[in-house]
Amino acid sequence: MVDTAHRDTDGTGVEGVAGGVGVTALLVAAARAIETHRPDSLARDVYAEHFVRAAPASADWPVHPREVPDGDANPLWGRFARYFGLRTRVLDDFLLRSVHARNARQVVLVGAGLDARAFRLDWPPGCVVFEIDRAEVLAFKHRVLGGISATPKAARVPVPMDLRADWAGALPHAGFDPAAPSVWLVEGLLFYLPPAAETYLIDTVEGLSAGGSALAFEVKLEKDLLEYRDSPLYTATRDRIGIDLLDLFDLAPRPDSAGRLADRGWSTSVHTPFDFTRLHGRGPLPEPNDALSGNRWVFADKPRPEGAGDGA
Ligand SMILES: C[S@@+](CC[C@H](N)C(=O)[O-])C[C@H]1O[C@@H](n2cnc3c(N)ncnc32)[C@H](O)[C@@H]1O
Repeated sequence: MVDTAHRDTDGTGVEGVAGGVGVTALLVAAARAIETHRPDSLARDVYAEHFVRAAPASADWPVHPREVPDGDANPLWGRFARYFGLRTRVLDDFLLRSVHARNARQVVLVGAGLDARAFRLDWPPGCVVFEIDRAEVLAFKHRVLGGISATPKAARVPVPMDLRADWAGALPHAGFDPAAPSVWLVEGLLFYLPPAAETYLIDTVEGLSAGGSALAFEVKLEKDLLEYRDSPLYTATRDRIGIDLLDLFDLAPRPDSAGRLADRGWSTSVHTPFDFTRLHGRGPLPEPNDALSGNRWVFADKPRPEGAGDGA
């Protein structure tokens, strides 16, 4: 269906977890591992370091603050990692708040990567967590979690799909009920997708969401990301671990996905990450030539039909 910005960076024709955009899941896992061990941790993920150690591409990356001698001054394993720690905490809170407030028992992690929330969070009884990502990424995750006998705290349903394909039918096929409220998370994904795939994704979420559902997603607002090519964050990610994020991002002009949902009756609120840094008293703050300056976290609620109770 839609075109793609993905590059076959490993040259094998097959993108494993360490190939192409899959390696970004390892980057986020390393950040979560470091966050877990900070004395002032915002989020704990004891599984993250197992993923990092298990993949040859990331086996020598840091997983603990003591392995980052320059601490927060390190643009990659300091400030950028802290960004992911903050994001993890804010979206953990969103998911748990949403399932309880809406009495929703279906959670969909779109572009789940190495997100271990199905194993980490205290889900209400009867909750099902669907994880959509590429088959190679989910297979790696399965292998690592199986190797440490991890036990999920909800029913977990992996849905191996390429989001550039027509995935709308895959979820109902996997047991998702579009007539019941659901909670959706699209974290760290949309910048990798072509604009048409983003719009298809938003429309699919809208189409599969019953009234009372909720969605959180992350976007970048900048018109020209290449302006930040020399930012400390992109430079450090490129130089220290060989990931050129700007090469993996789709640089075409982004659609207004929050506006699209608002046009369809969803209520939306748009925040900078820095709003939450101030709320939690830790996390990244704005800096010059800041690759994070256009990042926005969008929270959207689909209203229940007139006369329906809140179910909570
Ligand atoms: C930066 S990681 C974020 C993972 C996870 N949401 C998190 O925050 O830890 C991006 C994820 O999106 C997935 N992804 C990117 N493009 C995709 C596509 N076309 N189809 C399925 N998954 C995709 C990658 O495999 C990767 O796991």
